[in-house]
Amino acid sequence: MSKVLILNNENVDFENVKALLEKSGYSVSISKSVSDLVNAAINKKSDVILTTTESVQNKVNIHPAMETQMETIFSLAKLAQSRDDDTGEHLTRVQNYCRILSEELAKNSPYSQLIDNDFITDIVNASTLHDIGKVGISDLILLKNAKLTEDEYEVMKTHTIIGAQTLEDVHSKFGDNSFIRMGKIIARSHHERWDGKGYPDGLSGEHIPLPARIMAIADVYDALSTKRVYKDAFPQEKCVQIIKEGRGTQFDPYIVDAFLRVADKFDDVRQMFCDKVS
Ligand SMILES: [Fe+2]
Ligand SMILES: [Fe+2]
Repeated sequence: MSKVLILNNENVDFENVKALLEKSGYSVSISKSVSDLVNAAINKKSDVILTTTESVQNKVNIHPAMETQMETIFSLAKLAQSRDDDTGEHLTRVQNYCRILSEELAKNSPYSQLIDNDFITDIVNASTLHDIGKVGISDLILLKNAKLTEDEYEVMKTHTIIGAQTLEDVHSKFGDNSFIRMGKIIARSHHERWDGKGYPDGLSGEHIPLPARIMAIADVYDALSTKRVYKDAFPQEKCVQIIKEGRGTQFDPYIVDAFLRVADKFDDVRQMFCDKVS
């Protein structure tokens, strides 16, 4: 799936942004034509399309003050992900899982009133930022090829706080933006558990922000269903079973119920965006 960066400021040096993104592993194309954009997206010719096309900007709904910062944020997210990554398509998959779950919850759950189109747009974008705080974790811990010691695990857990702090800095510098606001919530709380045994704040139940409760299932499903250095990919039935077992302990029961109704769509996404390396 392509990401679209809307840079409406003609003064931005697109070639420079392109080079920066390519350094972070994106394939990038620059276009002002909507048909080029659609073509590149459909045929997956590039990960990122840089455009100044205003009609696209209106659809994507990015706050103007953020436009010139988006490339940095996405690059940082990609960089954070790529360092410990056995998961080339992880961000694309979790974006899709968050979208599928949110759409189902909007249709049929106690949260339907809380989820509108803006919420869904924001969670799709903001989910890419969940592990952005890993940029602050040392290679010795992040890339360790063995079980972390207790102390190392404590350091690892701080990626949630570092990520939220990073996005708080962006937020206070560039003003209110719903996508960054949601990114901050997700970065901080995506490892919380429904039963209060998660981190960093030990929040429980509905004290955990809804986007983070959705993200938790998306992220865990992805970890279960893909190959990691420490495990093989589990078959779909086993992934579904493990998520089901977490109903009301690790995960929000209503979101697990929604997941069970759309688990087949998760499986489709997993197959569509499988890792190139696995
Ligand atoms: Fe994380
Ligand atoms: Fe993740």
